[in-house]
Amino acid sequence: MEPIIVWYLRMSVIYFVAGAFIGFMMILFPNTAGYHEPVHAHLNLLGFMSMMIYGVGYHILPKFSGQNIYSPKIMNVQFWFSNAGLIGIAISWPFLNMDHLVSFFKPMLILSGAASLIGVFLFAFNILKTIKPVQMPPVSR
Ligand code: HEM
Ligand code: HEM
Repeated sequence: MEPIIVWYLRMSVIYFVAGAFIGFMMILFPNTAGYHEPVHAHLNLLGFMSMMIYGVGYHILPKFSGQNIYSPKIMNVQFWFSNAGLIGIAISWPFLNMDHLVSFFKPMLILSGAASLIGVFLFAFNILKTIKPVQMPPVSR
C-alpha cells in the first residue's frame, strides 16, 4: 500500500476516535452539545467515513479497473486539502456562535469548508478518470 494511502486510513481512524469522544462528551454535557454537534457529525462523516472511503477507494478501485491511479499527484495534493479542511472545520465551528469571536472564526470556517470541498472535487475527478469497465473472460461451463 502506498504511504499516502496508509495516511488516509490512519487519519480516518484518528477522526473516528475524536468524533466518538466528542459524541460521548455531548452525552455528558448536553448543555454545550449544540456547539459541538456539527464537529461531531463532520469528524465522523467527513473524517472517518469519507477519509476511509478515499483511502480504500484509491487502493482498490484502480485494481478493480486494471489501471493505475489516474494521478498520484492529485491523490497527494487532495490529502492535504481534505485534512487541513477538516481540521480547520473542527477548530472553527464551535466558535461560530460566540459573537465576539465571529470575525476570526467565520472566515476560517469558510476557508476550511472550501478546502474540504476542493478535496471532494479532486477525489471525484481523479477516481472518475481512473475507473474503467474491465472485459471479463467468458465463463467456461
Ligand atoms: C461513541 C460513538 C458516538 C456517540 C457517543 C455519539 C453521540 C451523539 C450525540 C449525543 C449526538 C447529539 C444528538 C442530539 O442531541 O440530537 C449525536 C449526533 C450525531 N451523530 Fe453521533 N455519536 C457517536 C457516533 C457517531 C457516528 C459513528 C456517526 C456517523 C458515522 C455519528 C453521526 C452523528 C450525526 C450526523 C449527528 C447529528 C444528528 C442530527 O443532526 O440530529 N455519530 N451523536
Ligand atoms: C465540503 C464539505 C462539507 C461542508 C463544507 C459541510 C457543511 C455543512 C453545514 C454548513 C451544515 C449545517 C450545519 C448547521 O447549521 O447545523 C452541515 C450539516 C450536516 N452535514 Fe455537512 N458539510 C460537508 C460535508 C458533509 C459530508 C461529506 C457529509 C456526510 C457524509 C455531511 C453531513 C452533514 C450532516 C449529517 C449534517 C447535519 C448535522 C447537524 O445537524 O449538525 N456533510 N454541513
